[in-house]
Amino acid sequence: MFNNLNVALYVSGSIAAYKSLTLARDLIKQGANVRVIMTNSAQLFVTPLAFQTLTKNKVFTDISEEPDEKEITHINIAKWSDISLIAPATANFISKIANGIADDAASTTLLATSGKKVLVPAMNDNMWNNPATIRNINTLKNDGIIIFSPTKGYLAEGYSGKGRMIEPELIIEKMESKLSNNHLLEGKRVIVTAGGTRESIDPVRYISNNSSGKMGYAIADAAINAGADVTLISAPSKLNANYKARLISVNSSADMENAIKDNFYQSDILIMAAAVSDYKPVSYSDQKIKKNDDNLVIKLSRTNDILKEIAKIKSDQFVVGFAAETQNLIENAKSKLQHKNLDMLVANDVSGDKVGFNSDNNKVYFIDNNGIISQTGIESKQKISNDLIKLISERIDK
Ligand code: PMT
Repeated sequence: MFNNLNVALYVSGSIAAYKSLTLARDLIKQGANVRVIMTNSAQLFVTPLAFQTLTKNKVFTDISEEPDEKEITHINIAKWSDISLIAPATANFISKIANGIADDAASTTLLATSGKKVLVPAMNDNMWNNPATIRNINTLKNDGIIIFSPTKGYLAEGYSGKGRMIEPELIIEKMESKLSNNHLLEGKRVIVTAGGTRESIDPVRYISNNSSGKMGYAIADAAINAGADVTLISAPSKLNANYKARLISVNSSADMENAIKDNFYQSDILIMAAAVSDYKPVSYSDQKIKKNDDNLVIKLSRTNDILKEIAKIKSDQFVVGFAAETQNLIENAKSKLQHKNLDMLVANDVSGDKVGFNSDNNKVYFIDNNGIISQTGIESKQKISNDLIKLISERIDK
């Protein structure tokens, strides 16, 4: 479930902070991207440098420190994170977030975060049993925050009591069972397409585009995390597919169409993130075309529009297309939604250089037949994939 998941790890001031180094390392081992936010008192127990060394990311400790004047760090982290993990959470830090206090880097970033939050307390047993802490924990539970209660064990005070933070291994195990995108697509068979198809001109040349496969591979990860059985039909890409996906590698748009048709009847959802060639050479030369002094004219013909072909055989499958546009984004996207008989469309403006083809980010509108559902800012393809899976799960028959 952690593959490519963005985890914001909040560390507050408890002796258990040393365990969060192991936690960060283990999350990374499982494929998560980890960024750490520390309170001032946490830094008395463990240094930011230790976390930075493990995560390869700068640790956020000071709300006034903005290295890039175009960015607002706490908002960036809030938007970036798929999950916020607060471990260890002290009684003081719990009290702050239960009451919406934002007076340092950690509490301010958390207050700006709308995504899932998991809180792992660590404190003295009397603090844990204090009515104020009990009130705060109940408030956080009502706010939808998942709490992994402390365990009984040997405390730093030198005696045994309930207040000890649970071990990193157990935190990860519990996160897996509680959060694996909440089994949103449990039992669903999902086809995801990715990458840019290649239309061969001769044995060594082809027509293609700049699609890297990042968007489709991230969707495959997100669908797997949501419990789906995923077939990833990929045009050439340098990426490694999730080992849980059934990978079908294809080259041309015709190969992709055949692979989709072979699997479509047995599937519940098709997500077409691939950049499929619209044209292919009319003829293929068996031998490498020799150059001469004249211009070379290659005549192109239209490829099949795969989504239009799929629309002809579609029964109750939920079909999602993408629209990559450089102008009139919404207008063109809505027209594609209709013409291709789609249930949902992800429209992305690929005119900027920070988004779209071969970028780590996209900026999209989610559209269905009722109009625009929602829009994102510039977000990681992982985040967009998680949002997409959630929206699909809300629209399919369970
Ligand atoms: O792979 P990345 O580097 O991460 O880049 C991601 C992306 C920009 C490729 C992706 O986000 C994206 O927008 N994919 C769709 C690109 C595209 O081909 O858009 P389109 O507007 O030309 O096509 C609309 C839809 O029809 C798409 O779902 C496409 O898969 C499908 N199509 C297109 C042509 C064709 N012959 N048959 C199709 O089914």
